[in-house]
This record gives sequence, structure tokens and C-alpha cells, in this order.
Amino acid sequence: MTHEWWKRGVIYQIYPRSFQDDDGDGVGDLGGILERLDYCASLGVEALWLSPVYPSPMADFGYDVSDYTNIHPMFGTLAQFDLLVEEVKRRGMKLILDYVPNHTSDEHPWFQDSRSARTSAQRDWYLWHDPAADGGPPNNWVSNFGGSAWQWDELTGQYYYHAFLEKQPDLNWRHPQVRAAMHDVLRFWLDRGVDGFRVDVLWHLIKDDQWRDNPPNLGYKPGDPPHYSQVPLYTTDRPEVQGIVSELRSVLDEFTGRVLIGEIYLPVERLVAYYGANLDGAHLPFNFQLLQSQWNARSIAALIDQYEHALPPGGWPNWVLGNHDNPRVAARVGLPQARVAAMLLLTLRGTPTLYYGDEIGMVNVPIPPDRIRDPLEMNVPGVGLGRDPYRTPMQWDGSPHAGFSVVEPWLPISDDCAIVNVQAEDADRESILSLYRRLLHLRRTHPALSVGNYEPVATTGDLLAYVRRARGDQFLVALNLGEGPYALSLASLGMAGRTVLSTYLDREDSVPAAEISLRANEGVIVALVSTGRRRA
Ligand code: GLC
Repeated sequence: MTHEWWKRGVIYQIYPRSFQDDDGDGVGDLGGILERLDYCASLGVEALWLSPVYPSPMADFGYDVSDYTNIHPMFGTLAQFDLLVEEVKRRGMKLILDYVPNHTSDEHPWFQDSRSARTSAQRDWYLWHDPAADGGPPNNWVSNFGGSAWQWDELTGQYYYHAFLEKQPDLNWRHPQVRAAMHDVLRFWLDRGVDGFRVDVLWHLIKDDQWRDNPPNLGYKPGDPPHYSQVPLYTTDRPEVQGIVSELRSVLDEFTGRVLIGEIYLPVERLVAYYGANLDGAHLPFNFQLLQSQWNARSIAALIDQYEHALPPGGWPNWVLGNHDNPRVAARVGLPQARVAAMLLLTLRGTPTLYYGDEIGMVNVPIPPDRIRDPLEMNVPGVGLGRDPYRTPMQWDGSPHAGFSVVEPWLPISDDCAIVNVQAEDADRESILSLYRRLLHLRRTHPALSVGNYEPVATTGDLLAYVRRARGDQFLVALNLGEGPYALSLASLGMAGRTVLSTYLDREDSVPAAEISLRANEGVIVALVSTGRRRA
């Protein structure tokens, strides 16, 4: 059976501002990505996903788009983008763009027109509302970035809704012209050869048309993100959004072999609705559970199980270990477990998404107060919400500015960059980068590890184990999430096995054994052979 590329391969997320600066302004750009394409290809990833590269005032670092069909001059030109598409394809990879449909920048011409007069042609392209009786905001909805989600606009005497910054007004997706215009945006890039989109905050697109107040979240604790103070009953995951998603999918289906990925932070039972009632929704609603789970074997075994069971028939799973909105995995679970996490990500059933820099073990970089850039940290300071620490420049080598730029970059480079960098780790056979390379290679050579069946193995304590099988090829993945040794008997499974890869990168067996001994924080991939004898 052949599988689509987005089922088989690994997606690598590039945060363009921080990947490689080619023009010497301290911010990464398309020229930089072009320079580093050989590196991406050498990893063996299938597709590159670029966070937004469109014209933008950069209030939310590109997630505030002022022109959907162009490239920000800071990143390059459309001609350079076309070259990028060509060069990515020449190396056998695919290119995925970020699509930001929920809101535009307030500097987008659509909003400029909308706010100019109540009678303007595009007035209803956004969500305008009269004040409440007391002159205050129409209802209690709060912004994800702090404060009321309603912004008073003096000129026309109404409020507009913004789920994020006031510089990011929400579009009105009930308006047919908005839908048509935004569909044309997809076609513009699909025509240029883009292989798919990661859709920003997909579950936000429709809000309650009766503007009802959200109920309070009684579990809210100070220090939680501001919008956790409410249950977002009327602002997100509204039933009507499913129709919008299937329309987006129809646009992609006008072309062949494209992928629709949704950014959706919802509990699993709601997340899976975004595959669509007839698998006519997103191909891959992003599964963020590994970002949020406690890092222990029992919690992870339970969440895999829950996810596998919740998937609709034919719905393809996916796993995310890091992105530009969440702390680095190496910081969350520690470096020894970051290696185990790499093995987990690349051997679970489903499409993995790998965040740039995680493959070299980049950590959260402390940001001095005068270098803070993230608007979330500026609006809600001091409680650790700022995302700058996980958006710092890629560490390529031990030269000044880590080979990222010739000048001081827009965000500081990590102090560990003399050791944690691509060049040094490529020279070290036991580095996490070497581990990622080996894992990616093994995954590409053995379909069992990418598209094969998944069978959990019952374990206790700190061990997480499962078998992946395809066409007679079978592997046991055993991951020790604890600090003590662990012995796993294969004889009881009627199996013997040969370790083909350890997260320590220091062993490879030549003959199958009946027992696997795992050291602290060790994960192994074991090629299985059946002995035909199953011991009780
Ligand atoms: C998404 C993006 C995040 C951005 C937000 C608003 O969650 O990943 O970076 O701030 O949407 O567009």
C-alpha cells in the first residue's frame, strides 16, 4: 500500500526569523533558508513548514498579516520565494506555508476600509459591535494576549473584536466575500507550487452570533494565560466552524497531493472532530498532547491509547514535540529525556512535526528585560508566558553569532552555542543531532516505523513500549523514562530481538537476545524475530 507523503514523512518547522540571516540585518530570511536547504535535506525530513513570511508590521511577528499574497521585504521577494519552492522540490522535499485566516493586521487594506466608515464596503468583513448599555465592551470576552477582546474605535463609535492583539482584528468568516477572498489566497500559493498549509488557530474562526458572555473558569489560577479565566464556550470551537474547515479542504482538493494541517488546542475528543464528519476536514489536526503531558511513562502510555482510540476510521494521527509557542522539549524534560522524546516522536504511528533546533538540543534561552520582543510577555509580564526563549537563532557553529548572522541577532543566542551547534554535533557520533539523523534514517528505511501498525506492549513503572509492524518487518520500541535500569523480557512475547538503535548511540547487537536491558533514560529500537514460543 502506498501512503501519501504527509503520512510517511516528517515535517520540519522553520521559524524564518531565526533560521539563517542572509542579508545581515540580524533577522533570518528566505535567502538564509535557501543557504541551509542542504542541511534540511540531509536530515531526511519530508517537508518544511515556514511560519509566516508575508508583509506584516510584526506586532505578533508575522501572525499579523497586512498582505496575504506577497513576501515581507525583510524576508525577501516573491521571485526568491519561487526559487525556494524550486530548490526545495529539487531536493525531494515539500513546502508548507502558514495560513492566518482568523485575523489580519489592522494595517491590512481590508481593515483600513472596514474601519473608515460604518457604510464602507468591507465594514462587515470584521466583527463590529455597539457598546453595552453602560458604554463598555459588548460582552465579557477576553483576549488571549490580556484584557478585553474588544477595542473601541472612536471614528465610527463601535467596538471591534480581536482574539489576540488589538492590532489583529478578527475576520468575519460568516461573510461570503471574506470566505471567497481567503480561498483565493490559498489558490494563489497553491498555484505557485506550495504543498499545503498549517492553519493558524483553526478552531477560532467562528464566534457566537448572539455574542453571549463566556462563563468563568473556576479552575483559573493567577499566572495562567489570561484567557484561561473563562471557558471559551462562545468564542472557539463553535459548530459552524466545521463547515468553514471543509470549504478550506475543498479548495485544497482542487489541486493534487496537498495537505491541510490545523493548529487546534482542544481536548482529544473535540480535536478529532476537525478531521471532518466524512474525513473532509483537516488531514492533520495538530495533536499537541506531548507538549502538555506530564513526562512519565504511565501518562504518555495513557494519552497514546486515548488518542489512538479517539481517531475516526481512516483519520491519520500526528505528533508534535515542539513549536514556536511552547517551551523547548530539552528544557521541559531535560537533555537525557529529550533523546528519549526524539525516539518517541519518530517511532509513534503518525506524522511527526519537529521544531528547528530541537534536533540539536536547544534549550529555552533567558531573555534580558531590554531584549524582550514577544507582545504576550509585554502585555502579561513576569509570569513566564513570553515565547522569545524558544524562538532564538539556530545555532550552526561556534563562530560569533553562532553562524546565524554577521551582526547581533534580533533575539540573543544561547550561551551554550559553543557546544550546542550543528557543526560540533555532527563531529560527535553520540550527540543528539547524530541520534536524530540515525532515527530519521531508520524511519525512512523501514516503513514499519512510519506507516506500520501500532500495538502497545503492557508495561509498568517507568517503561513505555510498543511494537510497530509492516510487511513482516517488526520493531519493538522500549523507552525508559526513569532514572533506574529496566529489564524487559521478550521471551514472554514469544520473541527475540536485536537492538538496532539506542538513544545512547553506543550499542548495536549482532544476534537476537531474549531480554533487553535498559539503562536509566535509555530508549531502544529492537528488530524483532519470532521464536514461536510464548512463555507465560
Ligand atoms: C497562533 C500562533 C501564535 C500567534 C497566534 C495568533 O497560536 O502560533 O504564534 O501568536 O496564533 O496569531
